[in-house]
Amino acid sequence: MDIREASAVDIDGMSRVLDEIFAAKLRTTPGSPAFVRARYIEDRGRLACSVAVDEQGLIAGFQSLKRAVADNEYGVAPGWGIIGTHISPRAARRGVGAALFEVSRQAAQAAGLTMIDATIGKTNTAALAYYQAMGFRPYRTIDGCICKCSEVV
Ligand SMILES: CC(C)(COP(=O)(O)OP(=O)(O)OC[C@H]1O[C@@H](n2cnc3c(N)ncnc32)[C@H](O)[C@@H]1OP(=O)(O)O)[C@@H](O)C(=O)NCCC(=O)NCCS
Repeated sequence: MDIREASAVDIDGMSRVLDEIFAAKLRTTPGSPAFVRARYIEDRGRLACSVAVDEQGLIAGFQSLKRAVADNEYGVAPGWGIIGTHISPRAARRGVGAALFEVSRQAAQAAGLTMIDATIGKTNTAALAYYQAMGFRPYRTIDGCICKCSEVV
């Protein structure tokens, strides 16, 4: 897997990943190219958004790291990081998420973040286990979600 910073050329591939996750019933909405552009490529809080590209040149997954702005939709403390991970089911459990997190962790350090929030559906056992394995620990709950956080080290 090649890991690199996402750009506009990756929008369709990232959208496909979200649609594959949706088709597998692991997220509640698909991810149109317009959604990906607004949410990940052009988001004003973006610190890093890394894509993992497989041997065929297809995007296998991506991870986004943003700086929480005032009144963000997750209620995360302004200045913290907000992380989101999206790995296609075709590439799951092959270490892609762990490799992406190492890149995001370094980006968080470089940006001077001290804490990162991951807001996870409370029944999403894979994601709960993944973030636990990446060093995140529960610190609050909101509407159907468990929020875990990790100090940036
Ligand atoms: C959750 C998710 C990000 C994990 O990514 P991944 O690339 O499959 O994870 P990795 O292979 O890097 O796994 C790293 C570690 O996380 C844990 N883990 C990952 N998936 C797991 C699962 N399904 N069950 C239990 N533990 C899991 C394990 O400790 C794993 O290490 P190991 O394989 O050596 O045991 C991925 O499955 C995904 O994107 N799911 C759909 C979208 C989603 O739910 N995103 C999170 C929204 S909050």
